Amino acid sequence: MSLVIVILISPLLLLGLLWFWKELTMGMVLSQTTTMADKNVLITGGTAGIGFETALEIARRGASLIITGRNVTKGQEASKKIIRMSDNPKVVFKQLDLTSQADVIR
Ligand SMILES: NC(=O)c1ccc[n+]([C@@H]2O[C@H](COP(=O)([O-])OP(=O)(O)OC[C@H]3O[C@@H](n4cnc5c(N)ncnc54)[C@H](OP(=O)(O)O)[C@@H]3O)[C@@H](O)[C@H]2O)c1
Repeated sequence: MSLVIVILISPLLLLGLLWFWKELTMGMVLSQTTTMADKNVLITGGTAGIGFETALEIARRGASLIITGRNVTKGQEASKKIIRMSDNPKVVFKQLDLTSQADVIR
């Protein structure tokens, strides 16, 4: 009898633990809606990959955002996409090559 109860409860317990792990590692942080409307944020490499996704989430929270990268066409397209997807017009692209001392000083 007790073995039957253990067999029935174990999958539910496992599913509960998996759900909690998902919430802990993904859901709780990503579902925050803390406003960033009073923040100015600069994301280097914000035109692709991890930087783009970070920039998009920050734009969704209302911050004034500058994204940078070397490729102007890619950067302008990324900034337009972020504005469209976040409905936040306060997003600009600035060209910046972090391997160039002159660019960093500028
Ligand atoms: N630790 C980890 O587990 C882990 C996992 C994934 C990624 N990473 C690291 O995280 C970083 C981003 O990865 P990702 O996959 O998101 O890369 P990605 O998609 O290639 O994006 C790179 C971004 O950086 C810009 N960039 C590249 N070189 C630059 C330079 N010299 N000056 C200014 N901007 C530059 C790119 O734009 P332009 O090409 O227009 O310059 C682009 O916006 C990489 O360094 C990667 O190695 C770490």
